[in-house]
Amino acid sequence: MFVLGVETSCDETSASVVVDGEVKSNVISSQLVHSKFGGVVPELASRAHLRLIIRVVDEALAMAGVTKGELDAVAATQGPGLAGALLVGLSFAKAFAFGRRIPFIGVNHLEGHLYSNLLTRNPHGFPFLSLVVSGGHTMLVHVERPFHHRLLGQTRDDAAGEAFDKVAKMLGLAYPGGPIIDARAKLGNPRAIDFPRAFLGEGYEFSFSGIKTAVLYYLRRRGLPDPAREGEPAYEEHLNDICSGFQEAVVDVLVGKTVTAAQELRVREVAIAGGVSANSRLRDRMRAEAGKAGCRVFTPPLEYCTDNGAMIAYVGWMRLAAGERSSFGIPATANLELT
Ligand code: KG4
Ligand code: ZN
Repeated sequence: MFVLGVETSCDETSASVVVDGEVKSNVISSQLVHSKFGGVVPELASRAHLRLIIRVVDEALAMAGVTKGELDAVAATQGPGLAGALLVGLSFAKAFAFGRRIPFIGVNHLEGHLYSNLLTRNPHGFPFLSLVVSGGHTMLVHVERPFHHRLLGQTRDDAAGEAFDKVAKMLGLAYPGGPIIDARAKLGNPRAIDFPRAFLGEGYEFSFSGIKTAVLYYLRRRGLPDPAREGEPAYEEHLNDICSGFQEAVVDVLVGKTVTAAQELRVREVAIAGGVSANSRLRDRMRAEAGKAGCRVFTPPLEYCTDNGAMIAYVGWMRLAAGERSSFGIPATANLELT
């Protein structure tokens, strides 16, 4: 079965072709227009999706060597995400499927991330435990079998990625801040500054607004590294130590809760997914610590960590293979939940 997948929930315009569960192409156009605003500007995102969508889909088909006539179905992200951005991909996919008289499948973006470790040559089995960490979500999910999800806990306030982006903004770094903090943290000392860890007792809920505020208070007390001194060793060292200390505190909580959940549920396969799963420290420590607890750890290749069409095409293919299709009447749903 040939499935085209379209993803436009935030600031990447992406399309992919999946054939019988194998990714044949995955074209991602990241919108650079937002970087100077320090975050995604929803209206600009929708307009950029409109400009890019046809070109990105054509490229995904060409790279896969697949014609429009060969497609069996079209999948698109239904939500969660920015309403106007979702509308572009969803309307495109519906019109495409309607015009070609093939099934259309609306996909939950969180399921896309959740199953993104199945897109590789070394997929996990079921049941598995997944830590989904992105710009909009932080959740621990126990998946007993395909599409049977149990949400163990999620964040009460900021998502982990959002905390990375907001702290980067405070430090005068560009958007998105996650990859920049990751790179600087490697050069810093994770123990130079001790930021608080919010474990919130024994449950599986998360909170990252406290650590963000702790960085803010630290900067008020100590002062922001002076941008005029950029490049000087003292400036670079201080900034790298802040990045490293912040990242370590976030990773401590993410890894700690995931390993505890795996032990409590006696799950042997642990996956991480979503934009923050690209974080090198999170990947290393999850491999080491969940590995020590007897778990096999699955981390997506980097192109499947941040938003991409392949994970949407793949879940579309899973649902199509299970005999499902969506109504052309389903709306773009900004706050769609994982069920
Ligand atoms: O999954 P994603 O592309 O979009 C959402 O669904 O939200 O995740 C984007 C988030 C951003 O907050 C970005 O800063 C973060 O993922 N991110 C990272 C890294 N790469 C991307 N965070 C930490 N370390 C990274 N290497
Ligand atoms: Zn995402």
